Amino acid sequence: MNPAPALTAVVDIDVPGPTISRHLYGHFAEHLGRCIYDGFWVGEDSEIENIGGIRADVVEALRSIAIPNLRWPGGCFADEYHWTDGVGPRDERPRMVNTHWGDVEENNHFGTHEFMALCELLDAEPYISGNVGSGTVKETSDWVEYLTRAGDSPMARRRAENGRREPWSVKFFGVGNEPWGCGGNLTAQQFSTLARQHATYARNHGENSLYRIAAGGSEDDYVWTEVLMKQLTRGLQDPSPSDLYQAISFHCYTMSGSWMDKGSATEFSEEEYWTTLARAERVGEILAGHVAVMDAYDPAKKVGLALDEWGTWWNVEPGTNPGFLHQQNTLRDALVAAVHFDAFHAHADRLRLANIAQTVNVLQSMLLTDGRRLILTPTYHVFAMSVGHHDARRLPVNPVRAGAVHEADGREVSTVKVSASTKDGTVTITAANLDPTSSAVVELHLRGGDSGVITGAQVLTSADPRDHNTAEDLDRVAPVPFEGAVWDGGLLRLDLPAASFVSLQLSA
Ligand code: AHR
Repeated sequence: MNPAPALTAVVDIDVPGPTISRHLYGHFAEHLGRCIYDGFWVGEDSEIENIGGIRADVVEALRSIAIPNLRWPGGCFADEYHWTDGVGPRDERPRMVNTHWGDVEENNHFGTHEFMALCELLDAEPYISGNVGSGTVKETSDWVEYLTRAGDSPMARRRAENGRREPWSVKFFGVGNEPWGCGGNLTAQQFSTLARQHATYARNHGENSLYRIAAGGSEDDYVWTEVLMKQLTRGLQDPSPSDLYQAISFHCYTMSGSWMDKGSATEFSEEEYWTTLARAERVGEILAGHVAVMDAYDPAKKVGLALDEWGTWWNVEPGTNPGFLHQQNTLRDALVAAVHFDAFHAHADRLRLANIAQTVNVLQSMLLTDGRRLILTPTYHVFAMSVGHHDARRLPVNPVRAGAVHEADGREVSTVKVSASTKDGTVTITAANLDPTSSAVVELHLRGGDSGVITGAQVLTSADPRDHNTAEDLDRVAPVPFEGAVWDGGLLRLDLPAASFVSLQLSA
C-alpha cells in the first residue's frame, strides 16, 4: 500500500497566473571579502583563465543558471563608493579603505567598465546601486549620464576617453541601500525626501529607461514601505503613483541564531535545521505584509516590490576574516532557497526583483573559489533546477487538504513545497521535501490540460542536510536523474526523498 501523501493538490493548467519574472532569480556582488577580488576578478595577468581579468569559469557557471541581473557595488559598500574612483587607467585609480568589510584596502581595479563588461559576458542586466548615504545628487546624475548617454556630453566624452564610446543599457538603478543603518542612519521620512531628489536626477537618457528602486526597510518594517508609498502618491484618496521610482525594496536574511551568534553553516542540530527552515518560511508572510501596504496605495500594482538582499547568514568559516562573511553552503541552504522561491512565485504579481546575497565567496553564495578550483554550492543547483520558472506563468497549486506540517520556532512549517508554472507549452514543477528524516509522497491532479511526458526530472539530496561541496569533494551534493516521478492514472506522483529538491518538466 502506498504511504499517505504529505500533500495532495490540484494544479490548474488552464488558469495561468502572473508571470514569474526571471529577475526574481537575481544576484548580488558587493566589494566585500572575496566576492569581487578573487571571486569575479583575478586581473588580466592571472594564471587563472580569464576574459579581460574576469574569471572565465565563474562566467560559464553563472551563464548556465541564466543569471538575469547582477546588483553592484553594494550593499553597505555602495554608500561609500564614489564611482569616479573606479574609472580611468587602473594603476592611477585612487585607493580607499573598505571600512565596512574587513578594513582592507580597495584598489578600485574593478569599477564601472569592468562591471559592465562582466554583465555583457553574463548576458545579465546590470543593477547599479547608487550612493545616497555619502554621495551627492550630482554624483548620481553624472554616473547615470556616464553609463547611458549617447552622443556628445561631458560624461559621454569622459566614458569615450576611458575606452567606451557607445553607452550601455542600464535597467535597474538602486536609490540607496539600508538607509536606516549603514546607508546613513536616516529615518524613513528623511530618506524618502532624499530618494525623491536622487531619483529625479537619475535621468532617462535617450532610449534608456531606468527602473529606479528606492531602498526599503528591514524585514517586516511596513512603516518604511508606507512612507515611501506616500511619497509616490497623494495618499489613499489619490492612489496613482508618480514615476519617481518604480519599486521599493526590503532586505530579509535567515539565520538559526541571533545577529550576535548566527549559528554554524555546517555544524547544526536537527532543531537548528528546523528553526532555520521555519525562519525562512517567514519570508512569505513578510512579503504579504509589504504587499498589503502597497495594495492600499497602489491597487493597480504599478509599483514593484524588490527583495534585493536575501539568504542565509552564518558565522564565518573558522579562521577567516570576520569582515569577509565567508561561509560554507549545505543542503540546508539549498532548501532555504527553495522555500524562498515558493514564496516569490506566490507574490509574482507584485514582487518584480530579488537578489540573493551574494554570488561568490560571500554569504549564501552560488560559487566558492579555491585557487583555480571552482565549487558549485547546493544553492547553485537549486537555481539551476529552477530555470524553467523564469518568465513562465505561475500555475495555481491548490491543496485538496492541509499538507504535512512540523512545529518549529513557534510556527507550523509546511514540510512540502510545490511550485508549478507554464511557458511555451511546457509545465515546470519543482517540489521540496524539508523533512530531514522521512521521505514524502506528493500527488498532483493536473487539471485542464494534457498530462504530458515527464522530462528532465532531477533530484538534489544527500544523506545528511549538513552535506556540502568542497574542492576535494565537488559533487557531494549535486543533482542526479530522478526516478520518483510517475503517472498513476491521471495523478502525477512524486516520491520525494528526505531533505530533497526535485524539478521536472511536462512536455506535450
Ligand atoms: O550582504 C551583506 C550586507 O548585508 C550588505 O552590505 C548590507 O546591505 C546588508 O546589511
